[in-house]
Amino acid sequence: MRIIVTGGAGFLGTRVIELLLARANAGAAPIPFTEIVSLDLAPSRVEDDRVSSIVGDITDPELLRQAITADTVGIYHLAAVLSGGAESDFDLAMRVNVDGTRAILEAARAAGSTPRFVFTSSLAVFGRGVPAQVPESWAAQPESSYGMVKAIGELLVNEYSRKGFVDGRICRLPTISVRPGTPNSAASSFLSGIIREPLNGIAAGCPVPEDTPVWISSPDAAAQNLVHALGVDGQAIGGWRAMNIPGISVTVAEMLAGLERSAGAEVRALVTDAPEARVADIVCSWPGDFAVDRLLELGFVRDAGIDEIIAQYRAAFAPEPTGPAAQTPQSGTVAAPNQNGAGA
Ligand SMILES: NC(=O)c1ccc[n+]([C@@H]2O[C@H](COP(=O)([O-])OP(=O)(O)OC[C@H]3O[C@@H](n4cnc5c(N)ncnc54)[C@H](O)[C@@H]3O)[C@@H](O)[C@H]2O)c1
Repeated sequence: MRIIVTGGAGFLGTRVIELLLARANAGAAPIPFTEIVSLDLAPSRVEDDRVSSIVGDITDPELLRQAITADTVGIYHLAAVLSGGAESDFDLAMRVNVDGTRAILEAARAAGSTPRFVFTSSLAVFGRGVPAQVPESWAAQPESSYGMVKAIGELLVNEYSRKGFVDGRICRLPTISVRPGTPNSAASSFLSGIIREPLNGIAAGCPVPEDTPVWISSPDAAAQNLVHALGVDGQAIGGWRAMNIPGISVTVAEMLAGLERSAGAEVRALVTDAPEARVADIVCSWPGDFAVDRLLELGFVRDAGIDEIIAQYRAAFAPEPTGPAAQTPQSGTVAAPNQNGAGA
């Protein structure tokens, strides 16, 4: 019983694989499985006998035939060109995010096992002109190449589910913050950089107005929600399989105030305004708040607040955390991370 993770070497893919293994070790796997196969341009970094890697491009049908077998019970489709990359290379975004998604769905259909299919979409499928709090059923009207290719992916996954070829779960993830490491090609990369870089003593520029509202999730909450999405009853999601995954709504100014509460005014002062139209055009077109009550009832979780997200990052990645002590998680909020940043 195989679970495929495309993008298994990436940031979220690695966390999803680690959390699936941890849950299975605890006897709480979302679905029974015996092996996990990462399908990515690079091998998975997770070392475990149950994990193997197929290295290659998701648009290669031969590779997909090799990976997606009749005993495939679950597929996480995470491999993608991210927002900044999609905007600057339209053809690549179409090839990887649209052609690649269709190729994976076709391979799943050919395998004939109707696997549960978790697709990572994004709040970027929405554009400007949405209500202050986006209702569950609001139609996708993207205003970026990334949002457009994700919206096409959503329609494909939904239709392949309606036809009974796969059992889809479309997770429109919030922006992940705070992401460790270095900046990536996502237009929203700065939403991690303005917390992470100052905590490392490095100056950071803020490319959007500070009153911009954003919808964010910690990496741990995102990984927990992706693992939960595999186990949730497909019928409970409903006929339209897209879900606005819970996050928290904060302005950039509130994030910086949280940084100051955690690390002091000097660290906060390392972030300065550095307007960048290319980034602002994309990020300011995304909604900053969503109605998620039904998803919380379905067992999805969200972070308690920006202070907890920063404390979580510092506990896992900052060498000498001095921020406020982590608070006891409330109902519907995520548990504290372990040392490697994976959810409990
Ligand atoms: N991180 C976020 O803030 C965020 C927010 C919303 C949605 N998402 C979505 O979540 C998913 C995972 O994001 P991430 O942050 O882990 O990104 P990431 O860049 O860390 O990982 C993506 C992985 O996909 C692989 N990949 C790219 N093109 C490929 C191809 N043609 N063939 C095979 N592998 C390929 C890359 O090698 C990489 O390991 C993506 O679909 C992304 O669009 C992420």
